[in-house]
Amino acid sequence: MSFIGKTGPDLKSLAPVAWLICLLLFNGMEAFAQDGDGNVPPAVEQDSDAAIEPSDSPQPVAAAGGIPDSEEAITQGRQLFNGNCKVCHAINEVVVGPALAGIHERRPVEWIHAFVKNSQKVIQSGDTYAVNLFNQYNKTQMPPFNFSDEEINSILAYIKNETDNPVQANSPAEAVDGNQQGGSGGGSGISSDYLAIIVAALLVVLLLVLVVLILVVAVLNKYLGQRADLDPADKEIVQGGVKVSDIVKSRPFIAFVIFLFVSILAKTVLDSLFLVGIQQGYQPEQPIAFSHKLHAGQYQINCNYCHTGVYKAKSANIPSVNICMNCHNTIKTESPEIQKLYSAVENNKPIEWVRIHNLPDLAYFNHSQHVNVGGVECQTCHGQIQEMEVVYQHAELTMGWCINCHRETEINAEGNEYYDKLVKLHNANTGEPFRVKDIGGLECSKCHY
Ligand code: HEC
Ligand code: HEC
Ligand code: HEC
Ligand code: HEC
Ligand code: HEC
Ligand code: HEC
Repeated sequence: MSFIGKTGPDLKSLAPVAWLICLLLFNGMEAFAQDGDGNVPPAVEQDSDAAIEPSDSPQPVAAAGGIPDSEEAITQGRQLFNGNCKVCHAINEVVVGPALAGIHERRPVEWIHAFVKNSQKVIQSGDTYAVNLFNQYNKTQMPPFNFSDEEINSILAYIKNETDNPVQANSPAEAVDGNQQGGSGGGSGISSDYLAIIVAALLVVLLLVLVVLILVVAVLNKYLGQRADLDPADKEIVQGGVKVSDIVKSRPFIAFVIFLFVSILAKTVLDSLFLVGIQQGYQPEQPIAFSHKLHAGQYQINCNYCHTGVYKAKSANIPSVNICMNCHNTIKTESPEIQKLYSAVENNKPIEWVRIHNLPDLAYFNHSQHVNVGGVECQTCHGQIQEMEVVYQHAELTMGWCINCHRETEINAEGNEYYDKLVKLHNANTGEPFRVKDIGGLECSKCHY
């Protein structure tokens, strides 16, 4: 009976094949999972210039009391509020300063203008309301803000809108919640959880299939074993069954295992050789438990409030203690971590932050060129800093990394006369977009002194 002759060997080779499939599946899933994790959604807009360079968009003419009520003004106000006031004020709750709900009804608009621009001046002028408030808040100084009347009005528009429509997130708890949702982008958490479940379910299904197959084979064997009309060769196969030990001892299997072992070894060695000198993931412990997640994420302080050079210089700069003290002379003064700031000020000693990103001296990198001119987001190179409790190095910082981005990134040369001729020449020669490599982004001397 020839059909047994055909199925026999098939069954024998079933085990290694199943093994291979499992392996491939597992590997594939792993790669898939990495993709799910690595696939961070595009960087969250950090309202990057709301605090420092408020937009000078035209304000529609004032409604009641000079406070505009257009969407545009409210949006601008929200940005200014989040970037400058939120650390100390909420709409309905006392944070460091009073709740601001209904402030436009509580105080005249001119008074608010004066107070926001320089609260100390108003207090020193002897204004009773201001002096009382100042005393009530334990003489906490509100810092002066260099805002125009229009900008302050837009903040008031935002506060008024939040006061009138309390449905929108206006308690600090809700606001914080919203923030974190926006911040994390819901990227990794959910998908990797789902992936784990899917992988587990697939494994269970595979196991079940395997068990059923084994049962089927057993039943078939038994049935065939009872038949008398088999020729001797078929009989031998039926009685022999599929022995695991035979498979394990078989040459192809041994060769396969050796091949697998050697390739994994080779890959590990090569990978680690390529990583020499690369500090990706470097996350040193810092002298003070400063959290970007709290400051840049939850409180949305602009990156360039602290990293003052980032838009206009080569280096981004690490903030000095003075910048911390703008807020921490009043915020969390009792915390031992904040006490470290005070002793640094008293002893006139800088805080010794451990540097994380560090190119070798032979390479030249300029922040303002990338962030300001090129419009590249911080997160593209540094990862989701606003979600990091402790900063780590997100990118490889290798020459290949710089070059790859220069090969791929298009630049917008419109309205930039400096590039006009170059763009024309480029467009005449190819139909490809104008990229960094076309302005010399691959020339050795641009990056090497
Ligand atoms: C460092 C903390 C801090 C920041 C930042 C801050 N404030 Fe204040 N603010 C206070 C404190 C504290 C008071 C209470 C008065 C005092 O102690 O001077 C106050 C009072 C006020 C008042 C008067 C409130 C009332 O009930 O009469 C207004 C209006 C105000 N702040 C608006 C703002 C605006 C607008 C911003 C952002 C542009 C801002 N504040 C940023 C701390 C702050
Ligand atoms: C309140 C001040 C403050 C704000 C706001 C802030 N940072 Fe920082 N940043 C620091 C301090 C202090 C350090 C040094 C300590 C550390 O590494 O955590 C630092 C370190 C860093 C580093 C690592 C520097 C190194 O040593 O290589 C990067 C990158 C960085 N910040 C990016 C950002 C980005 C992007 C933002 C905005 C999303 C931001 N920072 C907002 C204060 C701030
Ligand atoms: C614009 C205001 C602002 C600036 C500038 C600022 N912080 Fe903060 N910081 C805060 C606020 C708000 C909190 C949260 C306070 C709370 O949890 O009640 C905080 C919390 C902290 C904490 C946690 C304290 C604790 O024990 O919970 C540390 C540490 C800290 N900041 C360090 C720094 C350092 C270092 C700098 C300077 C590089 C800095 N901060 C600059 C507003 C600021
Ligand atoms: C095109 C990639 C890129 C972008 C975009 C970028 N950085 Fe950097 N950043 C780097 C590199 C590379 C270094 C290391 C520089 C060195 O060692 O000279 C660095 C270093 C830093 C440092 C520490 C040392 C220093 O230069 O003072 C800080 C802080 C920093 N970046 C903050 C920021 C902030 C904030 C932004 C966004 C406003 C930003 N970076 C955008 C690539 C980038
Ligand atoms: C995320 C993409 C990205 C990465 C990563 C990146 N760059 Fe750039 N780079 C740009 C863009 C975009 C410009 C063009 C800015 C402009 O319009 O002038 C640029 C321009 C430059 C220029 C000026 C080129 C010229 O001809 O004017 C230099 C130099 C440079 N980058 C160095 C570096 C170095 C060094 C690194 C790695 C440490 C690096 N870049 C990493 C995007 C990137
Ligand atoms: C876009 C910027 C950029 C350009 C263009 C560039 N390099 Fe580099 N190069 C780098 C950076 C950044 C490093 C440091 C990488 C590291 O530390 O791993 C580097 C490292 C090197 C090194 C290794 C030095 C060492 O100590 O390992 C050599 C050699 C080198 N570059 C040569 C060149 C030559 C030759 C060219 C022109 C064909 C060139 N580079 C163009 C950015 C650039």
